[in-house]
Amino acid sequence: MKLENKIAIVTGSSKGIGAAIAKELAREGANLLINYNSDRKGAESVKNFIEKSAKRKAITCRADIGKMDGVKKLIGKAVDSYGRIDILVNNAGIAIWKPFFEITEEIWDKTLSTNLKGAFMASQLAAREMVKRGGGVIVNISSIAANGSMDCLVPYCSSKGGLTLLTKSMAVELAPYNIRVNAIAPGTIDIKRNRETDPKYPENWHPYIPIGRVGRVEEIARPVVYACSDDSSYMTGQIISISGGQTDYVPMPGSDFAK
Ligand SMILES: NC(=O)c1ccc[n+]([C@@H]2O[C@H](COP(=O)([O-])OP(=O)(O)OC[C@H]3O[C@@H](n4cnc5c(N)ncnc54)[C@H](OP(=O)(O)O)[C@@H]3O)[C@@H](O)[C@H]2O)c1
Repeated sequence: MKLENKIAIVTGSSKGIGAAIAKELAREGANLLINYNSDRKGAESVKNFIEKSAKRKAITCRADIGKMDGVKKLIGKAVDSYGRIDILVNNAGIAIWKPFFEITEEIWDKTLSTNLKGAFMASQLAAREMVKRGGGVIVNISSIAANGSMDCLVPYCSSKGGLTLLTKSMAVELAPYNIRVNAIAPGTIDIKRNRETDPKYPENWHPYIPIGRVGRVEEIARPVVYACSDDSSYMTGQIISISGGQTDYVPMPGSDFAK
């Protein structure tokens, strides 16, 4: 196993990509802190999977990653429960599709707080703990939206663009402390929320993807394991797209483009 007895936090791991990452880290031997904001049942089911199938430890923590109080609670719980942090995956994220002129200050603030500020705050507090233990790994879950050119996603694209430079600049400052920082940038991935927004989601979106299909959550989780393990020991400050070859443009679900 590549992550035997490592202590890992995955923000936003009650469902979707975060849940798959938490399970995959556990399969590789890590003990987990599962974070959620609203979906307690989802978080409990991920915990059950980790304990019963992967036979690793898992605890859950409700914390809003967009607020400093929430981040302090999350990092504090990991340290109180496990005594250290080896891996932080900044996965929690939201996407609110709105034409540019309909974006409110509230939408902007919520998106940037969750997707970018939360990653910064969690990284700063977790890195302080990693320094005490001689090092660690941070993985940010970005998006091909960091490359821009997406329809009706100005706050989201801005947050993921910011995550690119957060990743690169943290990597430089944290390298002397033996902390590696990388980002995995998914393309269009098959999650429940996307199917709710657009029931024909996989069929509608595959024309934009050279490989010809949307991705599965496990196809993001495996590269995250790579970024967390010693297999990538010489890699830091990198943004790795896992997107079936898709580079940037994505239409708004339900738009004429998507029909
Ligand atoms: N799906 C895609 O096609 C795709 C593509 C590129 C990048 N991504 C990125 O992948 C990451 C995971 O997204 P997903 O697609 O798996 O979406 P998802 O299924 O909607 O899951 C989002 C997760 O983030 C959590 N979350 C949201 N706001 C939070 C907050 N304020 N504090 C703590 N947790 C919060 C949610 O927790 P609760 O449900 O408990 O509230 C949930 O666990 C995001 O960063 C997203 O931008 C996704």
